Amino acid sequence: MRLDVAFTPGELPPPAVLVDQTVVVIDVLRATSTMVEALANDARGITAVATTEEAVRIAQNIGRDGALLTGERKCVRIEGFDLGNSPLEFTAERVAGRQLIMTTTNGTAALAAVTASRRVLIASLLNVDAVARELAVDDESITLVCAGREGRFALEDAICAGTLALRLYRRLGRRRNWSDAALAAAQLARRYLPSVERTLRRTAAGRQLMELGLGADVTYCAQLDHYDVVPKVRDRQVVL
Ligand code: MLT
Repeated sequence: MRLDVAFTPGELPPPAVLVDQTVVVIDVLRATSTMVEALANDARGITAVATTEEAVRIAQNIGRDGALLTGERKCVRIEGFDLGNSPLEFTAERVAGRQLIMTTTNGTAALAAVTASRRVLIASLLNVDAVARELAVDDESITLVCAGREGRFALEDAICAGTLALRLYRRLGRRRNWSDAALAAAQLARRYLPSVERTLRRTAAGRQLMELGLGADVTYCAQLDHYDVVPKVRDRQVVL
């Protein structure tokens, strides 16, 4: 198995290379954690798009009764949208059976950057072991892409990528074809996992959420293996 980590979407290989790869998209604070939460609570599917305009257009086509518009800019719910991007909002009462149209600053933009890939999975700390189990089945070429923050490195995403790498190693017992980035991510996970919630609170994204009174989201997203689900992209939708 060849394992690489892109610490930002800007480090991804070109589409012609991605076509042969499985890509795992990671945005711990908070987009992929929220996707995992929504699907675990029986949302029908998530159409993830990069812009607010596209989200509104798709929702109008589906009809607002069938779809929920969700997402944030600067971590705050977009005006006129039904839900923001807090996993705690995506309860079964709100999302079960509903189609979500989601746009977030970094997470859905990272998803838009990997559409050429052979297979796309969604990971967060909430479902990291389930994703490792699925990846371990095939001996293939895998890139873990961190959404980062506006083109820059985000420690919480790197820790999640490293945790996934370590879980793969635990299952497969080899790391011959790991890139330098995969080895570095694994070291970050070893260093920070024992105090992961405290570490998430110290990151730029964690500090921003706490300033907005959203510290409970950071605590929630720091939970390891809370769900045994593996969201994946099928027909341009994130589904279970
Ligand atoms: C993003 O996609 O940029 C994030 O999920 C931001 C957030 O915490 O809402």
